[in-house]
Amino acid sequence: MSDYDFKAEMTSRRERAERIIEECLPHEEGFAKTVIKAMNYSIRVGGKRLRPILMQECYRLFSGKNDEFVVEDELRYYMAAIECIHTYSLVHDDLPAMDNDMLRRGEPTTHAKYGEAMAILAGDGLLNYAMELTTRAVDGCADDDVRRLVYAQRLLFDRSGIFGMIGGQTADVEAESSGNAGGQELLSYIHRNKTGALIMAAMMVGAILGGADDEQQRIITSIAQDIGLAFQIRDDILDIEGDEDTLGKPIGSDEKNQKLTYVSVYGIDRAKEDVQKYTREADELLDQLPGNKKFLHALFSELVTRKN
Ligand code: IPE
Ligand code: IPE
Ligand code: MG
Ligand code: MG
Ligand code: MG
Repeated sequence: MSDYDFKAEMTSRRERAERIIEECLPHEEGFAKTVIKAMNYSIRVGGKRLRPILMQECYRLFSGKNDEFVVEDELRYYMAAIECIHTYSLVHDDLPAMDNDMLRRGEPTTHAKYGEAMAILAGDGLLNYAMELTTRAVDGCADDDVRRLVYAQRLLFDRSGIFGMIGGQTADVEAESSGNAGGQELLSYIHRNKTGALIMAAMMVGAILGGADDEQQRIITSIAQDIGLAFQIRDDILDIEGDEDTLGKPIGSDEKNQKLTYVSVYGIDRAKEDVQKYTREADELLDQLPGNKKFLHALFSELVTRKN
């Protein structure tokens, strides 16, 4: 058995990401207090913090900065920003007009706790706040660094917008109740965009800020495509086979909304095989990159069988 304690490594990374995010959150004061409370509630309530963790790991691969306790300022703001974007996508995804779910991260969804209007505004607020955070990262940077930061910013907002996450969510909503019409091609678009795009942004922003060259960025992009796909296939499986208490969100949401999912198109056995296949591909590509990849390899295999 390996002496590598993945659970402990994951916990320490998650806690560090949470401290960084917490330091960036807005104060709950003034006439806008209610929306700020709803924003902070949505973030603080929990979650795996997968995207900031992936971002930091990719940064470390290329920056050569291996002291995990020192997190560069520029990276901190991007780690917090991507969790704000991801959380806003969940707040809006749970709204009655979308998936209409009442449980998220083991607690009432934002609209269940604060009402629909505040949930819409909290989502808007988180997205806007993410933009503010990424511009703060530029303060005090040298000109060369500013170019890199703006490139990372463009990638983050491109991948979370209409050419990424929002595009995927649009197709996901439109495919509801279509009885798998559109089939494999549409499903692939949905998965790569509603989920894969933000995972790619997380890994690419880390790589860019860490100084990855063009070829390394190409490899990271391919790894992220595989991991993003595997992650959403596993999410589709958990919607059927998961345990609500462990998962922290409702089981059967996809069936309720007649979603186009990997399981509805390919069946559960093929879905499980393909999570493994895409993760194997990602593992092989990761071997081509420099740096200490132990944690990333372990994280990828954990995602195959994750329960939440
Ligand atoms: C849930 O993402 C939505 C999907 C993209 C599948 P996560 O499974 O990363 O949710 P949290 O952040 O851990 O709550
Ligand atoms: C949503 O996919 C992905 C987002 C962009 C939020 P799902 O609707 O399957 O996510 P869950 O299962 O509610 O977390
Ligand atoms: Mg959804
Ligand atoms: Mg949903
Ligand atoms: Mg789901």
